[in-house]
Amino acid sequence: MKTLIISSSLSPDSRSFILCSEVNSELLERGVESKIIDARKIKLTAYHYKESLKMKDLSKEISKADNLIIGMGVHCYSINDSLKIILDNCFNDVTGKFFGILCAAGSEKSYLSTMHLTQICMNEWRMIQLPRIIYGTSKDFKNNKIISKDLNERIIQFSEEFITIGKKLMN
Ligand SMILES: Cc1cc2nc3c(=O)[nH]c(=O)nc-3n(C[C@H](O)[C@H](O)[C@H](O)COP(=O)(O)O)c2cc1C
Repeated sequence: MKTLIISSSLSPDSRSFILCSEVNSELLERGVESKIIDARKIKLTAYHYKESLKMKDLSKEISKADNLIIGMGVHCYSINDSLKIILDNCFNDVTGKFFGILCAAGSEKSYLSTMHLTQICMNEWRMIQLPRIIYGTSKDFKNNKIISKDLNERIIQFSEEFITIGKKLMN
């Protein structure tokens, strides 16, 4: 099972990137062929501008993956701008793929913001989502590390369920 984790935040201190890294480690430990793409290393251009070569490479990586995990930071109770660019430009070959969401936010009150990503993926490409989201807030992190025991436990639970359901959907 080939899993691609797309960390969409451009923040140098991205918390959602930390979530992506942790889930990646859990998947690798359990024998999954998992890989992270870090959007900070890609020149992202909006839809009507010329697509960069790295964006074309990302589209190919997404196409080759069996399933996807998307890391997002909440911006204005919704998905962040860089994730929207990735969805608009690089999600050409994702129909029916299984996916999961890892989300970082400033506060607990924005947890429904991931629903915008769910709506896009399900309505546009009939993708199937793991019914468990990792949602971390600024209180769960210190010095670029997770300090919440509960969040760490949920990362393990998410990773195990992602593997179990992901494998079932591949048969
Ligand atoms: C433009 C902008 C808008 C934001 N809007 C929200 C918001 O609506 N709700 C919230 O809880 N946090 C909000 N935040 C805080 C981010 O979600 C938080 O910093 C999170 O760590 C971002 O993810 P990242 O660190 O992976 O980039 C916002 C941050 C920025 C920069």
